[in-house]
Amino acid sequence: MRRKIVAGNWKMNNNQSESNILINSIIEKNSENSSCNIYVSPSFPFLKDAVLTCSKSNIKVLSQNVSHLTNGALTGDVSCTMLKSIGINSVIIGHSERRTIFGESNDVLLKKIKICLENNLEVFFCIGEEIEARNNNKHFSVIENQLNETVFILEKIDPKNLVIAYEPVWAIGTGLTASPEQAQEMHKFIRQKFTEKFSESISSNLSIIYGGSVKPSSAKNIFNQSDVDGGLIGGASLNANDFSDIINSI
Ligand code: 13P
Repeated sequence: MRRKIVAGNWKMNNNQSESNILINSIIEKNSENSSCNIYVSPSFPFLKDAVLTCSKSNIKVLSQNVSHLTNGALTGDVSCTMLKSIGINSVIIGHSERRTIFGESNDVLLKKIKICLENNLEVFFCIGEEIEARNNNKHFSVIENQLNETVFILEKIDPKNLVIAYEPVWAIGTGLTASPEQAQEMHKFIRQKFTEKFSESISSNLSIIYGGSVKPSSAKNIFNQSDVDGGLIGGASLNANDFSDIINSI
């Protein structure tokens, strides 16, 4: 059976004390929850604190990024082994903000995916189309291409170590959530592509989560779709009540 997941992508928000307060509040409100895997993702300087705070809870800590190389002259980068050494086991790769603002190509993203999997880090791999592609009915081919140039180059995958986050770029931070039907249609398409590339047993165990303006008011209808296994939540994950309401919608 595939995992249900609700993960907060905090992006570049929260200083040390804000980060601590938010994590403690999320732990307090969700300590009884056993219906899904819950993740929080503070910025790099606060990951170690977060791992310690979450160690006796059901909340996991997710890094927002990682380097594509192991070590060396890469000013400002953070490697997989560094993350592992402080107890991080999961990383977001390929967020549209990394692709567009930092120019990360599918080539670099594939390197990041490979190095994470080699180091036993679970990958949350983000894919999603821009509004022009959707308006021109090219959204399926954009998604297929993103997969073909990255995870589909791998010889095998393990759904225990890989989560796909479908995040239509036009829905991120805009308040324009994809409709439940649009999310379901794309998640089903993605799962079908994994069946074709790998196998039915892999695709049926792969968690595919949705991201893009998920709010407490929209979460339930999106999570109710048969191929939607949870969400990657931006803005609403910065508020413990909203995030907990979204968790309780699954
Ligand atoms: P919002 O929920 O703020 O739209 O952000 C979604 C996102 O980018 C999660 O990775």
